[in-house]
Amino acid sequence: MRKYTDRELKEFGLAPDRIPKHIAIVMDGNGRWATGRGLPRAAGHRAGVNALRDIIRFTSDIGVESLTIYAFSTENRKRPKDEIGILCGLLIEYFNREIDELHQNGVRIKSIGDLSWFPTAVQETVRAAERKTADNPGLKLNIALNYGGRAELVRAMRLALSETDEPDEAAISRNLYTADSGDVDLLIRTGGEERVSNFLLWQIAYAELYFTDVKWPDFTRDELIKALKDFAGRERRFGGLK
Ligand code: IPE
Ligand code: IPE
Ligand code: MG
Repeated sequence: MRKYTDRELKEFGLAPDRIPKHIAIVMDGNGRWATGRGLPRAAGHRAGVNALRDIIRFTSDIGVESLTIYAFSTENRKRPKDEIGILCGLLIEYFNREIDELHQNGVRIKSIGDLSWFPTAVQETVRAAERKTADNPGLKLNIALNYGGRAELVRAMRLALSETDEPDEAAISRNLYTADSGDVDLLIRTGGEERVSNFLLWQIAYAELYFTDVKWPDFTRDELIKALKDFAGRERRFGGLK
């Protein structure tokens, strides 16, 4: 839920009419953040979880409607079992620690992806967070867990085909996990790689892309403000003329 007035937004250097409705973030670089400090990769994931708190808070406070974050991709299942175990543990810890504050702030949590692949404890924690926050009116927080854009599209097409023999774009769109968040306006990727890695393939058709070398654990509110200012300066034409 938006907390800041127009004047306060301007004090951050943000134009009130140029705040993206839907931001998506590929939170990359945790492992490199850690190894660069001589720490185990797990320390990077922990630092990454901590960085999330202020980003969600600020996104909500400036009145962004939807924030979709990439926490675990279908391809991340290739990682060593112990790293996956650590990520699952952090996920449970995160929800237990943050759920009350998120709920108080009116955040509505939704997981996107195939949750059934995760251990039962993870599924139950995530489902409980979804149920608790389901009717909240504020920021729609979509957390991509065992998510792949192609898998999402196959699922959406199958669902659309069960509704109609000839699905059109609208039929696909309304069967995406993110149907009520709509298209992405701004896609941010931290960690220096300039690729999409199977994230929200349909929804980013006309997204503005923002890549930064800053690794996810170092992505502070000031870094987000930089991305938002950059977005505000873009001319979005959607294929038309100015
Ligand atoms: C992103 O950080 C978090 C997940 C994919 C779970 P990485 O773990 O990919 O970090 P790097 O890219 O190896 O630095
Ligand atoms: C993308 O990061 C997935 C998440 C951030 C969850 P990866 O580190 O898995 O992506 P690649 O392997 O560099 O493309
Ligand atoms: Mg990575």
